Amino acid sequence: METVIRLTVDGAAREITVDTRTTLLDALRERLGNTSPKKGCDHGQCGSCTVLVDGRRQLTCLALALSYDGAEVTTASGLGVDGPHPMQEAFLAKDAYQCGYCTPGQVCSAVGMLDEVAHGHPSHVTEDLDRPTTIEDLTDAEIRERMSGNVCRCGAYVGILDAVREVAGA
Ligand code: FES
Ligand code: FES
Repeated sequence: METVIRLTVDGAAREITVDTRTTLLDALRERLGNTSPKKGCDHGQCGSCTVLVDGRRQLTCLALALSYDGAEVTTASGLGVDGPHPMQEAFLAKDAYQCGYCTPGQVCSAVGMLDEVAHGHPSHVTEDLDRPTTIEDLTDAEIRERMSGNVCRCGAYVGILDAVREVAGA
């Protein structure tokens, strides 16, 4: 069965007809030609397909495209439309990638993660749930935990941590 969905992807309104079983990742990559989100595991385990949906980070490989009809999708590519995003600049400056395959997902996840912190969302390592972690007191443990859904097969974690810390100013 097919259905028509409308998405705003990196600022551009798009309308496509998709099989109802199409994932958001395949809709973006195969139907809309946006190869910024990467297909790594295709099972929700690596984070390479992460984008921002209505500002929140979202794995796209397990998300059905039709569930996101009307949504605003921002990929790492879209984050850099008006010049490099501060997180992209930090990844460059801190040598936070090697092959770069995981990088678009890492960048989107890092941007979404900092927004979650700014809104007072706790993580599994937040010590005091009565006083949510703020951007200013974001520890390395918090950053590692909050980014743990994004796997880097090259092991660029030291640089990724530095990049996130720099943007956070923590
Ligand atoms: S491709 Fe989506 S989590 Fe790995
Ligand atoms: S830089 Fe190669 S997978 Fe992360």
